[in-house]
Amino acid sequence: MAARSVGLLTRLPLCSQRPAQVPRPAFRLLSCPGTVAADVRSEEQPPDCRKAGERGSEDKAPKKRFSEVQKERREQAQRTVLIHCPSKISEKKFLKYLSQHGPINNHFFYESFGLYAVVEFCQKDSINSLKNETHTPCLDTEAVIPFKSRFFNLKLKHQSNRISEPLCTQSSSQSPPSSKKLFELLNYAESMDDQLNTLLKAFQLTEENIKLRYLTCSLIEDIAAAYFPSCVVWPFGSSVNSFGKLGCDLDMFLDLDEIEKCDVHKNVGNFLMEFQVKNVPSGRIATQKILSVIGECLDHFGPGCVGVQKILNARCPLVRFSHQASGFQCDLTTNNRIALKSSELLYIYGSLDSRVRALVFSLRFWARAHSLTSSIPGAWITNFSLTVMVIFFLQRRSPPILPTLDSLKSLADAEDRCVIEGSNCTFIQDLNKIKPSGNTETLELLLKEFFEYFGNFSFNKNSINIRQGKEQNKPDSSPLHIQNPFEPSLNISKNVSQSQLQKLVDLARESAWILQQEDRHQPSPSSKRPWGLTTLLIPTAGSKFLPKKKRKKPVSERVKSLLESIKDNSPESSTNTDGKTAMS
Ligand code: GTP
Ligand code: MG
Repeated sequence: MAARSVGLLTRLPLCSQRPAQVPRPAFRLLSCPGTVAADVRSEEQPPDCRKAGERGSEDKAPKKRFSEVQKERREQAQRTVLIHCPSKISEKKFLKYLSQHGPINNHFFYESFGLYAVVEFCQKDSINSLKNETHTPCLDTEAVIPFKSRFFNLKLKHQSNRISEPLCTQSSSQSPPSSKKLFELLNYAESMDDQLNTLLKAFQLTEENIKLRYLTCSLIEDIAAAYFPSCVVWPFGSSVNSFGKLGCDLDMFLDLDEIEKCDVHKNVGNFLMEFQVKNVPSGRIATQKILSVIGECLDHFGPGCVGVQKILNARCPLVRFSHQASGFQCDLTTNNRIALKSSELLYIYGSLDSRVRALVFSLRFWARAHSLTSSIPGAWITNFSLTVMVIFFLQRRSPPILPTLDSLKSLADAEDRCVIEGSNCTFIQDLNKIKPSGNTETLELLLKEFFEYFGNFSFNKNSINIRQGKEQNKPDSSPLHIQNPFEPSLNISKNVSQSQLQKLVDLARESAWILQQEDRHQPSPSSKRPWGLTTLLIPTAGSKFLPKKKRKKPVSERVKSLLESIKDNSPESSTNTDGKTAMS
């Protein structure tokens, strides 16, 4: 759903004023030649790209809690500014100019219909200093709204600051690889496990992309703070749950309850002071009123916020808009704390074992390639539901690869206790206290078994329940029943129709069948013949269910057109107003 491509131009070494806020990666990824994903990663990004046998070694390094990651990233974003720069600029002079306001901790440039710099100062005060020196533009023909945000526009006073040589020496890109490159990468992999890890590495969010996501939330928070001074805008969903793919949307949660939490400590003595407030008939109406006003604010005053839509009658009211400079499609919600907790749970599952993310990424790709998922809401399965199915499957392995939610709850102590609107969302937050799995199955086997498991699952009778890690009797007649982990009476896949479920089952069976064909999953780097994961991504290839007349094109051509279609139809690609389609 996100808007457009964000090409990273440079990522330079940190300035030396003080150590980096974000620690260096605890794990290095295996190098996959030609892969474009950044290999500089922070601790919160779970490890991946490991070969069988290396599994488990990552468990020795302490892993950060979700809340720690969120707080650190937010604090980092609050010290950061976004600057639209002239296309050719001397980086050295640019940094020297900004350093007048204080030491710079980190910076990078990226291109998104213009050149942008993300600059992280060491201290928040530097931003005030920069703001004091910045002025509101005067336009001859139009009036401006003098909103003073952390999104700036840099202009050149002297042409001498312009350079003719390329901006940077260490250029890299934040976009996923082209379809051709992906095909090559998958075909040249050494094994199917290697293919799954390669796909993950090429499409996972980069360090810079994560920073940009937190910065965007921070900029929106500044706007919302005009009404709610202590509010927090937290990213949730795939931006933070470890399953985000480059270009995925940016789900934001406007948290107004942080205010109450802070105030609890002040209620000492004999008196209790409360704010005078307005009452409305229901929480839903309060949410709608708040989002309505923030939506207006973003529309009128939010620099770079375009296409603002207030979707207030949805089950979960939201404000949707594009943040032009970052290229993110944003969904802002409030009163949605359970979704933040779901993101934390998925983050924990994604961090516990290096195979989880690789499997989820490949299955999301597979589902997308076969049009089982879509960017438009409808009767099809969502990425979220598909991810819960993978988690359930991994809980069912012997020995289990992932623990049940109930066992994560049993490990929880007092500080983990969490009840949201009557729903018990308690589970252990410290990942380091969860025992790693003794299961050593390969990704290849797991993929095959996933297809077999769900190709033969009794969807008509059973419900998927990650709380207990057990199949359960379905409580209603919906074709697919996946219990909401925190609100057990709800079905997260209620929208899925019988025909969409049947399509999923048929494709799972077909994929299991393909993987049973010995020759289909043997590496063949020298030939151009698709194998392994690539074969699974081809609609109709090897199908025993589809009539032969449909299999006209040579396989290599089908792979090419498939990969093009992934690119063009991906939720992350979009058509700009000028009609260009770009991939993010
Ligand atoms: P992509 O955006 O497709 O990459 O994945 P996502 O996980 O971000 O999904 P989406 O943007 O649709 O939703 C954001 C988050 O909202 C999810 O990660 C879940 O935490 C939550 N969510 C989405 N759909 C449901 C649902 O049907 N029920 C519940 N309880 N939560 C949901
Ligand atoms: Mg999302």
